[in-house]
Amino acid sequence: MSVPTHPAVIEWLAQTSVAHAFNEADPWIFAGVMSLHLLSLALAFGTSLILNLRLAGMGLRASPAANIANYLQPYMLAAFSLVLLSGLWLFIADVLKFWSNPAFKTKLVLLIVITVAQGWLLHGAKSGAAPARTVAAFTVLTWLAAIIAGRLIGLI
Ligand code: HEM
Repeated sequence: MSVPTHPAVIEWLAQTSVAHAFNEADPWIFAGVMSLHLLSLALAFGTSLILNLRLAGMGLRASPAANIANYLQPYMLAAFSLVLLSGLWLFIADVLKFWSNPAFKTKLVLLIVITVAQGWLLHGAKSGAAPARTVAAFTVLTWLAAIIAGRLIGLI
């Protein structure tokens, strides 16, 4: 049976003292980071969903999209930062296991699409650009796919 080969940076990361420290962390710390990951992704998805439904014309029509975007931006950015930091901690704690997981790689690709699309939608809404209904609806579906891929990580 052939041993899977990983990119040099992944092999290097897996051998760092930080990766070993995270991997041997107390289960309470792991549970805390995983809970932070779930709570911050709920806030990131929740704030994005409110904005995207408005942009897709499916709610909050009485409020200008620019007002909603300006109000939600600080929560959205804080949540995204916490999802990224907690996710990186979880990944570094078991680099080779997650890098070999197709659900994890699928989620990473979806996350890049979400970050670019959600950033573009937020910027457009704040500057009063015409709402991009299709992109907003598509981004909501991409979020759902990323959440399902994330849940699949621990199941395959
Ligand atoms: C908006 C972005 C993100 C969403 C929606 C998301 C979603 C999820 C979900 C739903 C889970 C499963 C939780 C569970 O099993 O109870 C998960 C686990 C995980 N996420 Fe994320 N995640 C995001 C960002 C990230 C990032 C940026 C990374 C790392 C670079 C990451 C790394 C992980 C890892 C390693 C796990 C598995 C933990 C384990 O099973 O031990 N996530 N994520």
